[in-house]
Amino acid sequence: MLISLLCMFWVWGGDPVKSSEPEPYHSSTGRFSHEQLQAYAKQYQTPLYVYDGDLIQKKYRTLAGGYSAQFDQLKILYAVKANTNMAIISLLKKEGAGAECISGGELQTALKLGFRGEDILFTSSAKTREELVLAINNGIVINLDSFGDIDHVKKIAAELKKKARVSVRINPDVDPHTHRFISTGHKFSKFGVLLEEDQVMDAYKQIKASEWVEIWGLHSHIGSQILEAQPFEQNAGVLLKFIKRLKDELGIQLKFVDLGGGIGIPYHDGQDPLEPAALAKKVAEVLKPGFEMLGYTPEIWLEPGRYLVADSGILLASVISVKDTPYTDFVNVNTGFNHLVRPILYEAYHRIRVLGRSEDVRLFDVAGNICETGDILGHDRLLPTPKDGDTIAILDTGAYGFSMASAYNSFDLPAEILVRGDKVDLIRERTNLEDLFRHQKLPADLKP
Ligand code: LLP
Repeated sequence: MLISLLCMFWVWGGDPVKSSEPEPYHSSTGRFSHEQLQAYAKQYQTPLYVYDGDLIQKKYRTLAGGYSAQFDQLKILYAVKANTNMAIISLLKKEGAGAECISGGELQTALKLGFRGEDILFTSSAKTREELVLAINNGIVINLDSFGDIDHVKKIAAELKKKARVSVRINPDVDPHTHRFISTGHKFSKFGVLLEEDQVMDAYKQIKASEWVEIWGLHSHIGSQILEAQPFEQNAGVLLKFIKRLKDELGIQLKFVDLGGGIGIPYHDGQDPLEPAALAKKVAEVLKPGFEMLGYTPEIWLEPGRYLVADSGILLASVISVKDTPYTDFVNVNTGFNHLVRPILYEAYHRIRVLGRSEDVRLFDVAGNICETGDILGHDRLLPTPKDGDTIAILDTGAYGFSMASAYNSFDLPAEILVRGDKVDLIRERTNLEDLFRHQKLPADLKP
């Protein structure tokens, strides 16, 4: 008993005790061969994000195909926060996607790329006046998150004498069974208007009473990296009940119901994906009979990020050195949580490959170059022993990789390339020292 309690203490205390068997080493880097990736690393240098444009296109078509088999009226808005590179957003726009945006910067990006206002959804829990003016002036659909939001939109729309198109984000209080940092639809989260105390009904009543606000939809997003259908089905049930009340009690007929993003991807070898066709079928089994009883069918809006772009991305980095100690053997690389924050922030797992090597497989920690003990990109990984200068590939980094990168420790931000068929485009240059110094001002008396 004492021993098991002590073990639990070690694990909870975050001590680097080996808690589970390491996964066997596979060398596959998906569509790209080791040689191809090594050639990209040589040509563009590392750290480098490589994206497979054909896979992004395929994922979009799989998702759209799966859902349109169930729902006639479907709109997919790409959650651009997952990967904000304009080439990636444009590629998805070409496929027919709209854009789900979170800030003035993302809205301006979508407008610059030619998205129509009605194909952009603006979801944020803290919208500024400038962002709301931009949204209203461009006919962007504003997803309201609080009563404060409702007041601001009513006021600004009246001032601009322009009708605001809105939806309300509900907090459905559904547990998506995912990491707590990316679980958004539980009642203690900062997002959405609570169903409790009839708050969402009150929100719609207030909106309906305003001549400057047009009701377009109802929105939900329960969380991210979800690999089971059940939370989505449960959420659909909550939405349906509410759509019925809106019609019965307030005579409101919605243009759309947004089921959110959140479809996960398998980050581990052998993990099962959540197939959109199967998921759509299950969600349709909840929604369709309800819509029939309702007497109308709203459009279905989805806002995936990760599903579309995560597995298309590979972060290439160079091995600086191998450091063996009596306790842990490290592979030191020239990237870290400044470029890929997911491992340290969510204890996220990304598969790592050593390109061009297969010999002497042993246990390593892949250590980033950031000056923090926690900067380990992969703990306890069985890997072939690399040599200095080798390239490693960190897989499934197309979503929330570059878009969460920072300039911490004054390293450059990586370059990004997009590969479609045989065509390779540089879609972002590596930053340089000029970028690092650009916005800093040295007062005259502190100049060297
Ligand atoms: N819609 C809303 C309102 C969201 O907040 C998000 C993601 C999405 C859609 C897209 O969710 P997805 O389909 O990508 O799961 N940085 C974290 C994920 C944060 C998700 C934030 N919101 C990670 O690296 O796991």
